[in-house]
Amino acid sequence: MKKDTSNFNTLSIHSGEDKQTPPVSSVPAISMATSFLSKEEVSFSSENLEDDSPYLYTRWANPIINTLEEKIAALEGAESALALSSGMGACTSTMLSLLKSGDRLLVSDICYPGVREFCNTTLPNLNINVEAINMSDLEEVENALSVPTDLIFMESPCNPILRLTDLKAIVGMAKEQKITTVVDSTFATPIATQAIGLGVDLVIHSLTKYMNGHGDAMGGVIAGKKEHINLIRNTAVIHAGNVISPFNAWLINRGLATLPIRMKRHSENAMMIAERLEKHPNVKQVNYPGLLSHPQHNLAKRQMNLFSGMMSFQVQQNPKQITERMRKELQTIHYAVSLGHHKSLIYYLPTDDLQQSSYQLRGKNLADYRKFAGEGIFRLSVGLEDPEDIYKDLEKVLNT
Ligand SMILES: Cc1ncc(COP(=O)(O)O)c(C=O)c1O
Repeated sequence: MKKDTSNFNTLSIHSGEDKQTPPVSSVPAISMATSFLSKEEVSFSSENLEDDSPYLYTRWANPIINTLEEKIAALEGAESALALSSGMGACTSTMLSLLKSGDRLLVSDICYPGVREFCNTTLPNLNINVEAINMSDLEEVENALSVPTDLIFMESPCNPILRLTDLKAIVGMAKEQKITTVVDSTFATPIATQAIGLGVDLVIHSLTKYMNGHGDAMGGVIAGKKEHINLIRNTAVIHAGNVISPFNAWLINRGLATLPIRMKRHSENAMMIAERLEKHPNVKQVNYPGLLSHPQHNLAKRQMNLFSGMMSFQVQQNPKQITERMRKELQTIHYAVSLGHHKSLIYYLPTDDLQQSSYQLRGKNLADYRKFAGEGIFRLSVGLEDPEDIYKDLEKVLNT
């Protein structure tokens, strides 16, 4: 476990907020303007954009979006960051900006289903070769790297099964071949995992989740070296138009102020609920990195400062009936997709459906998935409510 995380509390509140012109407000203002007065000669081409170029047009740069980007770069310990319109926007922009026809991408076979679907369809249409592998199996990674590879896209913990990826180990293999590495760290946030510190080149978050934390703004971010970030900014935001709304940037910047304390509370609540669920007679298996029973608990302790608020669990019987009861009877927990909100959210993901729509795994990789998910899992995003209330709500529908 990384020990000293005390400066997160200051960085999440102050970083990026020191560049206002008078009058200086105590909280940053939203600049909803799409264009800014040009008081001096500015190049119209984004190719000539410099760090200190004056503001010109919001798709190029905007003060509150820059504030958000600086804050996230500070939290990640990254040189630079780029905010975009959504988490999917961040994932796909990274791939489309860094890969070209004929290149090869290694992607985690389990990741946010939208990302896998994009890798299954759009990238092959652009003549990009994609291989989806179990990134938790380092032998599988090593074998896959015997073929020249251009980009490795990891996720940890993986949505929805909470399997982990050993970032340091994969970065070690990738560096030998100078392959760029990316991790979608949405489930962990920079508070739980310092991916840049582990050597990963680019870290991605869906800002829609924990980073904003209140379920009311969509966004995405990529953090890493300036060289990568400037390239993706040009390609994906300035040219392809994947810009975040300044209002959303303002909301997410506000949400970030409480990220460290929210993550601590999400983790504490989740730990308590995971331990209790594990003892419930109708619960077959709980997947939570903080539990001793998680097959990668030791890796979780090495790679995560805290274990976040996400878990998945299988029930012994009647998942369909339990799902119906959840839709009708849950009060504290919302039966709804998404995660990382202040409110607890739960959703049932049947294995066959997800395999058909997104993952299309076979043989060993399907068996590896089933070790976590069986016939289906309830994905639970533990919120900030009183943990007793969250558990009571669950217990009510599990006692069939
Ligand atoms: C791990 C992960 N990455 C990316 C995304 C996509 O984010 P967004 O919904 O902001 O596009 C999600 C959404 O659930 C996610 O869970």
